[in-house]
This record gives sequence, C-alpha cells and structure tokens, in this order.
Amino acid sequence: MKISLQDAFFAVPEAELKAQAPAAEAAYQETVNKTGRGNDFLGWVNLPQEVSEPDVLEIESVAARLAAKSQVVVVIGIGGSYLGARAVIEALQHSFSPMLPNEKPQIVYAGNNMSEDYLHDLLDVLAAKDYSLVVISKSGTTTEPAIAFRILKQHCEQKYGVEEARQRIVAITDKARGALKTLADQSGYPTFVIPDDVGGRYSVLTPVGLLPIAAAGFSIRKLLDGARAMRQQLMEAKSFDTNPAMQYAALRNVLYNKNLKVELMTSFEPRFFYLIEWFKQLFGESEGKELKGIFPAGAIFSTDLHSLGQYIQDGSRQLFETVLTVENAHHTVPIPFDEQNTDGLNYLQHRSINEINHIAQQGTCQAHVDGKVPNIRITIPEINEFYLGELIYFFEMSCAVSGYMLGVNPFDQPGVEAYKRNMFTLLGKPGYNK
Ligand code: PA5
Repeated sequence: MKISLQDAFFAVPEAELKAQAPAAEAAYQETVNKTGRGNDFLGWVNLPQEVSEPDVLEIESVAARLAAKSQVVVVIGIGGSYLGARAVIEALQHSFSPMLPNEKPQIVYAGNNMSEDYLHDLLDVLAAKDYSLVVISKSGTTTEPAIAFRILKQHCEQKYGVEEARQRIVAITDKARGALKTLADQSGYPTFVIPDDVGGRYSVLTPVGLLPIAAAGFSIRKLLDGARAMRQQLMEAKSFDTNPAMQYAALRNVLYNKNLKVELMTSFEPRFFYLIEWFKQLFGESEGKELKGIFPAGAIFSTDLHSLGQYIQDGSRQLFETVLTVENAHHTVPIPFDEQNTDGLNYLQHRSINEINHIAQQGTCQAHVDGKVPNIRITIPEINEFYLGELIYFFEMSCAVSGYMLGVNPFDQPGVEAYKRNMFTLLGKPGYNK
C-alpha cells in the first residue's frame, strides 16, 4: 500500500504538516499504549496477532458447514455488525455474482433497515432457496437486527423445523450480556464472541467480519496476513516521518482546521462502494461528536463525476478528497477495432480499459487539485484479501490517531442513542415515557 500526500501540499505546505508531528506521535502513543480516552476499546490494536490458528479453524469450519447447506447466507446486523463484512465481500466477489451459478452461497444482508418491503422481498427469495442465518449484535439489543432476526428465525424454523434451524443459525454477540446471548443459549445456537474491548466499527477482524467473509468463500487467513503486515509496519514506525497513519491523521486535522470539513473518499473502482461505506461509518461515528469532526462522504467515479463532479469541481470549497486507487485489474477486455470508427474510439484501441481508467483518474485528480480540492492518494497493487486487510488496519489506526488529535473519544457513539430514545418513546416501549 502506498500513500501520497503530494497533491495536498498546495493547501498544507510540508513544513506545516510536519509541525503536527508531536501531536500525531502523542496520539499514536495514546493508541498503542492504551492510555487515551476510551482505552477499554483498544482491543483491535493487537487483534490481527491475537486471532489464533484454532480461532481461524473454528470460523472456517462453521463457515464451511453453513456454506455446504446454503445457497444464501443472510447476515443480520447493522453498522459495525455488518459493514466490514460487506465491504470485504463486495470488494472481492464477482461484480455480477448473484447472476452466476455459484458453488459458494450468496451473502445477503438484513437488519440494517426497517423497510417492510425489503423484508418481504427477502422472504420471497428465501422461500425458494436453502439458507442460513448469521445474526450479529454486540449489545444483543439493537432493534433493527432484532426485528429481522425474529422474523427470519421463525421463517427458518417453519421451513426446516426447529432442529434443523438450529444447525442453520449462528449468533455472534457479547460473551455474557444481551437478549441475543440469552436467546442463543436457550435455543442452542453455536455462538461466537465479540471481544469486550473491540467496538462494532473496529470488529471486522473478529468473527463479526471473518465468519461471513469465510462463508462467502474468501480467505480470512490472507485478510489477517494483510492486517498483520500493516500492524507490524505501523508498530515499528514510531516516528511521524515513517508512519503513514500518523501522516494521514495529521493531514486530515490540518485540513479540518482550515475549514475543509468534508472528506470525500473516492474510487474509480465500483467494487469499493461498501469499503467506502465502512470508512464512512468508522470515521463518522468515531470523530463526529462534541460539535466537532470531519464529515466523511463517498463517491464512485466515473459515475459520480456525472453527478457530484460539478460540485466537487466548482461548488462551495469545503472538501478534500482521498482517492483509493487500484493499480492492476485482474482481467483484460480489449477495445475492438472498428472499420467505420463512427464513435471515433479507434485511437484508444491499443490502450487497456484499466489504463484508460487510470488516465481518467489522473485527469480528475488534476482538475480537482486545480479546483482547490486537496487530494490524498492511497494505492494498492490489486484487490485481494491481503491488501484489503492492510487497508482495514491502516484506516483503523489512522482513525484512532486522528480522533485523539481532534480531542474526542474515538471509541464511543453517544449520539446514536438520540434517535433510539425518540423511536422507543414514540413506539411506547416499556420504560420510555411519552
Ligand atoms: O460501531 C458501533 O459500535 C456501532 O455501529 C454498532 O456496530 C451498531 O450500532 C450495532 O450495534 P450492535 O452490534 O450492538 O447491534
């Protein structure tokens, strides 16, 4: 993985960035020494090292058992309890996976919305498919996945009978607390534990992410290897000059203090749509508090160049952009020669689509920099489990350092409770008064 800050130096001269070194190093020390705010949620720092061979074997074996029984695995969870898995799976899977005959199950998602039509349509599909359920909730009490699970559990029991349903349902939750833990124990579902010291949005390298990713047929070993490699790199690089997570965190904070309060994560790779969603959750929930924080947004190019592109180029100047680039494609699709050349495209005939995509990116970055949108570039050689593991750990560490530099606790989410309180009051939940 490479990170380039060059295209942001017009807004933040290198010397100004380097002046942040002491603050970034202090924030990094607070993270790795677990001395900062919210330090009971720093379990993710050593997680890649701590996932043991028996842990991996158990996850692989349960995933294989579910996969063997299922055309579809429904991952029921919201926020950090599903976005990491979806980010990795959608980055790795065939772009038209649902339309192909597959040996591995399709992974679909529930419990992240309360659309009645969505649930209806899902039940429609599940009536005709063999399926399993992976229900994920750290608190075990979140309403959206709880409703979806109640409906899907009943559907599963009616379709297969209670005994067989027990073989098709796996719960991932707290080791002792919450309604889901109680339900799983009572029903005899196999259970994986979300460690106490790992919060939802930092949990993709626990069974929360690893089980669905393994069930989809991808290598959790390579994903963990990538995370381990990035962890080692960031642990060894204790000084600002050598540590890209500190540099990225520092640059974000300097740009924020220059009134650039929106970070637009962009990619010319549509498979990164959910990786960007995961990034938005990680940074948005970690930093947006106490009336502070960069607003994390996302765009996929070229499509969004024809929608948001106008705003990015010419709209109100409150953006900086972080561009996620993939160097190499896995396949080639030649542009054919055409005698008529009516579309005038013969001049591109000797270029690969990937090369053209990169040139489009180069032109776009230049245009945005000319439009005074500082650009940060993060580049991976290709999309695979290893580089996704690297990216995940890189963003987790950067987010913690950035949050501490901003002066917030990156590991709580008190603001999420406000909508729940109102919803429970309006619904007349016992204990919530109108
Ligand atoms: O990052 C977080 O902590 C949140 O996004 C949670 O993952 C989300 O609210 C779901 O919570 P739970 O897993 O308790 O159902």
